[in-house]
Amino acid sequence: MRTPLVAANWKMNLGTAPEALEFIRTIRRGLQAVENVEIVLCPPSTVLAAVADLLHATRLGVGAQNMHWEDKGAFTGEVSAAMLASFCRYVILGHSERRATRSETESDAAVNRKVKAALAHGLAPIVCVGEDLAQNEAGETESVVGSQVTGAFAGLEGPQVAGCTVAYEPIWAIGTGKAASPAEANRTVNLAVRGPLARAYGEATAQQVRILYGGSVNAANIASFVMMPDLDGALVGGASLTLDFVKLVEAVAAARGGG
Ligand code: PGA
Repeated sequence: MRTPLVAANWKMNLGTAPEALEFIRTIRRGLQAVENVEIVLCPPSTVLAAVADLLHATRLGVGAQNMHWEDKGAFTGEVSAAMLASFCRYVILGHSERRATRSETESDAAVNRKVKAALAHGLAPIVCVGEDLAQNEAGETESVVGSQVTGAFAGLEGPQVAGCTVAYEPIWAIGTGKAASPAEANRTVNLAVRGPLARAYGEATAQQVRILYGGSVNAANIASFVMMPDLDGALVGGASLTLDFVKLVEAVAAARGGG
């Protein structure tokens, strides 16, 4: 049985220490009371250290929103897995908001290098995949998502893949208030994520990989996603910035029989 995971993608919000820490103080008690759900906050890199410090020795995990694949060097503005490893347990890789504007550093091959670098430093990647509206309407969802998954994990061994998380985020659902249908999202991840992983690494490995849904998730709709057999939680943007985030996590626990 996979433990549900809810990851908060703050994006470029709450990036100063006073606002980040103040917000966490308001939600921390509520989140810590929820059992059997793993919770990870992914703030901007400016406050990662402060957030990690505040959450040290709590059940709440910390993740970064991106990293470079090299350990160090002349890469102005970049942060490496080696640098994140002391603060973070997780790192989001290949988010569509980055893939859209940075083809060189966010291609499937680049995401693959990042996944390998993250694993080498003990970070658990949350690999984002998802089709855009035109691809969805053209019936290309499975092939687009399937090739993103295959590309991200190319050259890895089964045990490494088992420790990764995939976030299926249809681009047309992100920040639009128009979430995918839970049944459709489950069908997509079954065919285009767990299926290819099972063929490449075996069924047992594929069953260990946690798969999240992302895209306009909120406290009201999350339960319908996590009740799907192949969906193990959510990557949450907008709704992770409000007090409703506690309700959202509580709804996951209730839906999975843990709260
Ligand atoms: P959203 O963002 O929940 O605001 O749609 C999700 C994401 O981009 O990870």
